[in-house]
Amino acid sequence: MTTTGTTTGTTTGTTTLITGISELVTNDGPDWDLGVIPGAAVLVEDGTVTWTGTAATAPDAERTVDVGGRAVIPGFVDSHSHIVFAGDRSAEFTARMAGAAYDGGGIASTVAATRSATDDALRERARRLVGEARAQGTTLLEVKSGYGLDTTQEKRLLGIAHEMTGEVTFLGGHVVPAGYRHDPDAYVHLVAGAMTQACAPSAKWGDVFCEPHSPVAFDEDQSREILESARNHGLGLRVHGAQLGPGPGPRLAVELGAASVDHATFLTDADIDLLSQAAGSGGPVVTFLPVVEFSTRQPYPDARRVIDAGITVAVATDCNPGTCYSNSMSMAMAIAVREMGMTPDEALWAATAGGARALRRADVGKIAPGSRADLAVVDAPSRDHIVYRAGVPLVRALDI
Ligand code: NIG
Ligand code: FE
Repeated sequence: MTTTGTTTGTTTGTTTLITGISELVTNDGPDWDLGVIPGAAVLVEDGTVTWTGTAATAPDAERTVDVGGRAVIPGFVDSHSHIVFAGDRSAEFTARMAGAAYDGGGIASTVAATRSATDDALRERARRLVGEARAQGTTLLEVKSGYGLDTTQEKRLLGIAHEMTGEVTFLGGHVVPAGYRHDPDAYVHLVAGAMTQACAPSAKWGDVFCEPHSPVAFDEDQSREILESARNHGLGLRVHGAQLGPGPGPRLAVELGAASVDHATFLTDADIDLLSQAAGSGGPVVTFLPVVEFSTRQPYPDARRVIDAGITVAVATDCNPGTCYSNSMSMAMAIAVREMGMTPDEALWAATAGGARALRRADVGKIAPGSRADLAVVDAPSRDHIVYRAGVPLVRALDI
């Protein structure tokens, strides 16, 4: 990228014109419409987009950033991650590639390593992952707790997550920790009671791993208890559902008004009917996490079926040490296109506007007057290259 004009010193109050944009993806229109402007420019003031249009009609600005004939897209919105953790589970991944199944049992080893890690160690790794994500075009990340699983530890992880993002999710209901295996309901009551009370002020969202196919996750009643308590404490809801097999997660997400049901690997026809009916009244976004299926050797979900049913879809990474140690939104898009029936443009919309919808954010996932100036540059003349050149790090967040 070449840069002209003043690029140093404070930019507070200055207007910056981004020029040299071969095509601009704005997402400023109806769902699934990328609102592409060829030969575009973007005006930014104080971190906010104030104008978009063709370069020929651009207003003057105090400062110019020329992206040199590259495509510009809204920064990726990665609406699902678990990046506050310690330890290493690469051996578990390698064993899965040789045929071992994933059932959530490995989470216990991350919990043990996380509990004994210092704040600084957790912070250093989370920061590195946020930096990696930004270098790959992600400008907003949701981050969950869930590897502490007692009140003190969950609060600690939420505090560190909050240093990374405003989109912080309390996941005390990740799995039943070892000390409660004899009495899982006692753990459910702890999460729904004292733990939520202590943790809710440090979070924006509450989530649960609703998965009867896992020996360590939560069934429908347990998940409902945890989610209802989160809601009663003022948290918005998200649900890990239907990851390992068909299950009650998607239904619960609709029933309780969750913003998103994530994974959705095994949606039934009945789930799709329910989600489709709820879609008109702001029902849950279905958030696909394609790199999880890659990393667990599970079947890929049929995104086409979900989109065709009129349901809003997001694509995110789920970056975590167990099921997906990747924070590459481009890779998630590539798999969604090649294996899940999405077009490249649908995958791009889902990775940007879809993620924003999953987080109920109107100020990100698009480039339009009033939106945050979260822009990413594709090192290519068109957005098509993101998936066309799969595996090549073409996308990066634009520092303005
Ligand atoms: O989203 N499904 C539950 N939680 C994570 C995996 C966590 C782990 O295995 O460490 C997920 O896939
Ligand atoms: Fe997850």
